[in-house]
Amino acid sequence: NDSSTSLIMIFGATGDLAKRKLYPSLYHLYKKGKLADHFAVIGTARRPWSHEEFRENIKDSIHSFVGADEQIDDFSSHFYYQPHDVTDSDSYIQLKTLAEELDTKYSLQGNRIFYLAMAPEFFGTIADHLKADGLTDTTGFKRLVIEKPFGHDLESAEQLNAQIRQSFPEEEIYRIDHYLGKAMVQNIEVIRFANAFFEPLWNNRYISNIQITSSEKLGVEERARYYETSGALRDMVQNHMLQMLALLAMEPPIRLTTDEIRSEKVKVFRALRPIEGNEVNEYFVRGQYGPGTIDKNEVVGYRDEMNVDPDSQTETFVAGKLMIDNFRWAGVPFYIRTGKRMTTKSTKIVIQFKDIPMNLYNNNEQLQPNLLVIHIQPDEGITLHLNAKKSGQNMQTNPVKLNFSNEGSNGINTPEAYEKLLYDCLHGDATNFTHWDEVALSWKFVDKISEVWEQTNSEIPKYASGTMGPEEAEKLIENDGFFWWNLNDLDVENCD
Ligand code: BG6
Repeated sequence: NDSSTSLIMIFGATGDLAKRKLYPSLYHLYKKGKLADHFAVIGTARRPWSHEEFRENIKDSIHSFVGADEQIDDFSSHFYYQPHDVTDSDSYIQLKTLAEELDTKYSLQGNRIFYLAMAPEFFGTIADHLKADGLTDTTGFKRLVIEKPFGHDLESAEQLNAQIRQSFPEEEIYRIDHYLGKAMVQNIEVIRFANAFFEPLWNNRYISNIQITSSEKLGVEERARYYETSGALRDMVQNHMLQMLALLAMEPPIRLTTDEIRSEKVKVFRALRPIEGNEVNEYFVRGQYGPGTIDKNEVVGYRDEMNVDPDSQTETFVAGKLMIDNFRWAGVPFYIRTGKRMTTKSTKIVIQFKDIPMNLYNNNEQLQPNLLVIHIQPDEGITLHLNAKKSGQNMQTNPVKLNFSNEGSNGINTPEAYEKLLYDCLHGDATNFTHWDEVALSWKFVDKISEVWEQTNSEIPKYASGTMGPEEAEKLIENDGFFWWNLNDLDVENCD
């Protein structure tokens, strides 16, 4: 029986994340029988809603984002609402009374998940109150789930961590990185460690470079207030990009436990060569989108977006070259690239193997290097790019692709990622959440880059919306004799 028993308290219950991701995910879990009858949700936010109004909102969310309403009345009957002021003890005391009633009503065994899906400035305050006002005084498990951003830099992340650690031990803290819930991100480890033929080649003797691209077509949308203080480096690189890199680069864990996997990932972060001072501009490129065309529609540049400073220097694009100074990876560049308003919405990892010692087929054009491509989204799967003989008389070669397409993928995998992560949290599995050590080391790495960018007076390079970033990003990789693989050419669907 893998259904779980817990009270789930959502702070920020009227917000966008809750509506788009959390309620649909809980609904899916419910329909799959993974929440059974022993669960209840208390939503809190400032709005003075009644339970009924909240339930109507839950139904709307399921309707819009799942497009279903089967069992919706049963499902939403588990939802309760409590208007809340995050700084006021009386609010928490009322919350505690309601939690205790529901605990008895649904036999929840005192298990509690506190999900903070709201403005990060309140994370610490809420954690303090949960303990001080007795919400964590139960016999069951207590888990704190925290959305990003976890701090703005190392210093603020340390402060936040110190504060929440006064109320929750590390094992009870679940820091969300939703990329770790994506099916193909979870598959990286399996591809590497469940197959005989990759591991022997997975090192600097056979791999020439690795490219991780996560491009988006969307602009900053309604999030400019946050994004202006963040930029792509903090928004995407500190978390998602570095997490994917760690999974690609880590040593095989001795077993698949949370602690063993984390400790291997942490070693990768420790081996990351710090990029600082003058090197920043050699190893990292930033960019900001200007006006351009996306899907044949003209779109405005970043500086003309709502709530963006017309002189903003915020980067909406980052490309970087990272080096991992250990035995396995010495000399192999890991290139990363991420940005908004790019040509396509796509996340792919390209592992490029070194050329063979000599080309016997030199009657032909150059042989293509072998590639292993991990397609994270929107297509999910793996392609392996080889050279084979062209049909006909001559020994001419032709690049071919072997293709594995992950079953059941539907393109938009963010909701599924949340569903997986919520399920893991309900079951006390923190493997796919980020440990404090990983967060601290990745901020340490990223801070050195932002420090330099913040002191730079020169204008941020621009790229037209609908392109793959500024020219400088091409140069970054071309200087090493490589080029960015074109993501559309690599698609699973485009296989020969
Ligand atoms: C979030 C960032 O963490 O990830 C967003 O804050 C970004 O800016 C999003 O759009 C991308 O996620 P996905 O799942 O759509 O690739």
